[in-house]
Amino acid sequence: MVSSEHNTIQNRAHYDALYSKLSIDGLLRKLERLDAFLADATATDTSWVCMYQDHFKDRLQGAKVLELGCGDCTNAAVMAALGAQVYANDISDQSGVLIKALNAQADFDYPIQYYQGDFLNLTIDETDFDFVIGKAFVHHLTHEQELAFLDKIVRLLHPEGEVRYVEPAINSAFLDALRWMVPVPGRPSSLQVSRFRAWKALDPHPDRDNSGAHYKRVGQQYFKDVLIVPIGALERFNRLFPKAKWNRAFRRKAYHWERFLPSFLRYRWARTQTIVYRYPKSQL
Ligand SMILES: C[S@@+](CC[C@H](N)C(=O)[O-])C[C@H]1O[C@@H](n2cnc3c(N)ncnc32)[C@H](O)[C@@H]1O
Repeated sequence: MVSSEHNTIQNRAHYDALYSKLSIDGLLRKLERLDAFLADATATDTSWVCMYQDHFKDRLQGAKVLELGCGDCTNAAVMAALGAQVYANDISDQSGVLIKALNAQADFDYPIQYYQGDFLNLTIDETDFDFVIGKAFVHHLTHEQELAFLDKIVRLLHPEGEVRYVEPAINSAFLDALRWMVPVPGRPSSLQVSRFRAWKALDPHPDRDNSGAHYKRVGQQYFKDVLIVPIGALERFNRLFPKAKWNRAFRRKAYHWERFLPSFLRYRWARTQTIVYRYPKSQL
């Protein structure tokens, strides 16, 4: 098991290299056609389907939002374009470069404020956030870091505020083992033992529990309201449709049809989950 410190160093190296290849041109194009981009992404792309469910978009105007692990800054930019006051954080310097360029070139009501560094080491001078969110972020933290993050988040959140995470869901050991056996571009199969071990040594994901049960248990330590929404029980089969047009059409239909599955299958087969925490216990 890697230490929290080593985990952060590994994440930073990985994502600095990845984001240094990004430019803001693609981001600005998305903002120019924001309605079309959002309509497509929130119906098709898992992390967007999950983050924007339950009228999230309609709750952003004027809301004070802290996004942890903002990464390539697409979501931070979209929320700012929708009128939110966005505070974005990442350990990557490159995310800060993107935000600076976005603030200079996009027409936001409120410029995005960027906090660079490990969230745990930062002094956040703002409080009373309406939302603290993380998209594909918490599964990069060790269990120890996850708890320390929640300790801090609870102090930053408005008493009526909401934590909203989107994370991979690992609710079936069998499906998880199968997933690792299937190679994907850049990642060998777990059956190719030495190649897989070499890949794993550089992978920025710590070994940890990503089940819905885990997120529920942890959330209940800090919050009165905990909601776990599993998504992707049918959508996970999208790889059977490699052609991009069919793949996207399948995913849209799958999100619709999986709602009719019994809840234990929706949970067991889920690929992703929206995690919502409300009403911090320390503020009640
Ligand atoms: C999988 S990426 C997700 C990026 C983005 N939210 C998205 O949806 O594409 C995870 C992000 O978490 C950031 N990260 C990891 N550990 C962090 C920490 N301790 N503090 C702040 N950011 C961190 C990484 O740099 C990376 O940008």
